[in-house]
Amino acid sequence: MKHDGHEPDFDEVTGVSTTGHSWDGITELNNPLPRWWLWTFYATIIWSVGYWIVYPAWPLVTSYTQGVFEWRSRTAVVEELEGLKTLRGAMTAKLARTPIEAVSADADLMTFTRALGRVAFADNCAGCHGSGGGGAKGFANLNDDDWIWGGKLGDISTTIAHGVRWVSDENSRIGAMPALGRTGVLNGKQIGDAADFVRSLAGLPVEAGADLAAGRKVFAEICASCHGEEAKGNPETGAPNLVDAVWLYGSDRKIIMEGMREGRGGIMPAWSGRLDETTIKALTVYVHSMGGGE
Ligand code: HEC
Ligand code: HEC
Repeated sequence: MKHDGHEPDFDEVTGVSTTGHSWDGITELNNPLPRWWLWTFYATIIWSVGYWIVYPAWPLVTSYTQGVFEWRSRTAVVEELEGLKTLRGAMTAKLARTPIEAVSADADLMTFTRALGRVAFADNCAGCHGSGGGGAKGFANLNDDDWIWGGKLGDISTTIAHGVRWVSDENSRIGAMPALGRTGVLNGKQIGDAADFVRSLAGLPVEAGADLAAGRKVFAEICASCHGEEAKGNPETGAPNLVDAVWLYGSDRKIIMEGMREGRGGIMPAWSGRLDETTIKALTVYVHSMGGGE
């Protein structure tokens, strides 16, 4: 690139004056800046001066210009947080004094409560019950309408507060499936028969030649006291419904027999004392609203 220095003052083709700059034979025309551009440019300068005056702007040796309103980003954040805290505090207080049955009638309170419950669930419960409450083998599914210990708000609240088979809490849910095989109450054939009978109750296929009559007898004598005459479960004993399609441990004949042989008794910790009452209330409402609350 070659700078030729000063060239003629007018471009011969356009008649526009030139700046006198020319590179490789191309001369720069001296067109005025568009008006709109120029005014925008002036406006930004005026704006910046105003900004320097109003907001903290220029660094000084040990400090900085404060701006006429003495606005501080830190104070602004603190104020916003305080506002949020007051709002949250008010909602938490409202939740604390609202009877649990009445929470769902107040749409704002319900939204707040479910959000609080969702966070507490992710922190404390999801590890066992899954992030969506879907459960896993041995860990109850919480979003179906099948409840081992009852699905009313009061039932769920008791389960959460006192846990299941959590021996250090005297109000914990107690009741386990005994190890009927290992302790010699039932022999191998009786266990197989009862498993076939249970599967037939749930509408699952059983092998041809299964002795369902013998299984029915075992069930009536041993199992019905906890699971109920019709095997529909009993929240008093924590014995699950055996005639529906929901299984805590699984519906395989092998798994059912294993339970009868070795016993079952899933453990859930008590949360009372570890979580405050309002959090337990929020968790109860949240779990109840997952889909299967009664
Ligand atoms: C260490 C694992 C574990 C943790 C953590 C846990 N649970 Fe559980 N939970 C269980 C087990 C196991 C059961 C099933 C108990 C049984 O077999 O009867 C259960 C049962 C329940 C039930 C009863 C379900 C029914 O069908 O009646 C509710 C409600 C429940 N959990 C809620 C919660 C909530 C809310 C939290 C968090 C505060 C939580 N759980 C944390 C293991 C856990
Ligand atoms: C003393 C009460 C009791 C007796 C007797 C009893 N059960 Fe249970 N059973 C339970 C309890 C409680 C559970 C749930 C265990 C848990 O939540 O971990 C259970 C769980 C089960 C399960 C697992 C259900 C699932 O959803 O996975 C099956 C199957 C079962 N019992 C069948 C039987 C049969 C068959 C008999 C009779 C031979 C029997 N039970 C006798 C209390 C009992």
